[in-house]
Amino acid sequence: MELAEKCLVLGVTGGIAAYKAAELVRLLVREGASVQVVMTEAATHFVTPVTFQALSGRPVFTDQWDPRIANNMAHIELSRTADALLIAPASADCLAKLANGLADDLLTTMVLARDCALHVAPAMNRQMWENPATIRNLATLRADGVNIFGPACGDQACGETGPGRMLEPEEILGEVISHFQPKHLAGKRLLLTAGPTFEAIDPVRGITNLSTGKMGYAIARAAREAGAQVTLVSGPVALSCPPGVKRIAVTSALEMHAEVHRQIAGNDVFVAVAAVADYRPARPLDQKIKKGAQTQPPAIELRQNPDILGDIAALPQPPLCVGFAAESERLAEYAESKRRSKRIPLIVGNLIADGFGGEQNTLTLFDDDGQHPLPPAPKIALARLLVARIAALLEKR
Ligand code: C5P
Repeated sequence: MELAEKCLVLGVTGGIAAYKAAELVRLLVREGASVQVVMTEAATHFVTPVTFQALSGRPVFTDQWDPRIANNMAHIELSRTADALLIAPASADCLAKLANGLADDLLTTMVLARDCALHVAPAMNRQMWENPATIRNLATLRADGVNIFGPACGDQACGETGPGRMLEPEEILGEVISHFQPKHLAGKRLLLTAGPTFEAIDPVRGITNLSTGKMGYAIARAAREAGAQVTLVSGPVALSCPPGVKRIAVTSALEMHAEVHRQIAGNDVFVAVAAVADYRPARPLDQKIKKGAQTQPPAIELRQNPDILGDIAALPQPPLCVGFAAESERLAEYAESKRRSKRIPLIVGNLIADGFGGEQNTLTLFDDDGQHPLPPAPKIALARLLVARIAALLEKR
């Protein structure tokens, strides 16, 4: 439960995306948050307060003069216990009011009276999104420290296509969770590799490693949440890029090696999570090898790939380098010997049987202070612990 003990106010404004706010409440509550819904009058034309009341388990407020709140101070009463105020969907009209400090209903008055973070997930027609007035209002809100989630691009309820769709509830949930994470890596830059590499034999065949990229992508997300500027050099995987992360897609180990060297300058940390193929075919063929065309099965001559992590760690002024060791046995012995041979301060070991391909993992950190086993946990939780350890090592440098 990633939002346990968090109190959120969810503001819902008038727009067709209001129906998705119902699903958002369900997701927030499932993660342990208590959610107080406040609706504008316009929002009640799209979804009724009863829907939100049933999903949040709390009465819904729409009116600043609601007699259920003692001393007529709903805007103060409801916002004082909040850890964050989220408006989803936030209409163009709502953004305009917020940018100008208007307070003509309960929601906008609460925004002015709050003492917690404000997140908005805009939703509107693409022309409204691109209108100079909206662009101006968003710039003002950003400068005021408001976090803007999205919007996405795509089909709109009006039949048009373009920017202005509200992010999906799952994506908004991810953003809310991210904002609660400690900013251990604020101002730092982190480069990482993830996924497998694919070494071509011919146009349709190749040598690769089993790797989903999930652990590497979780670390990219956790580092971004912690405030780092993150560049992810990724082999072929079926994962979407975490929000706010710059992804560069590569295929082979040679491409990954070249891209890492292109990107490395200015990074404080390099984390090598990729399962890089140790060997590549010496001469990949331009045409498909045909079965039965020769009497002997074809022999494939292999060449060793460069050690990306080893090469970065050997730079004259290397960033803090972190490696991974996925082993099928004798984890501590192999991980520690890799840490020494590559001369890196931290290596993360895991037994293949514990985490391969799944959502959970069991990791042990090996550094100069010894072994630190982490409890079995979802990959994102482990990634956050690893990021905290990286931040502590950076402090000591
Ligand atoms: O012993 P091995 O080289 O397999 O160590 C694994 C670690 O080294 C991982 O962090 C992996 O990402 C990195 N590595 C690399 N380039 C290679 C092979 C491994 O960066 N060619």
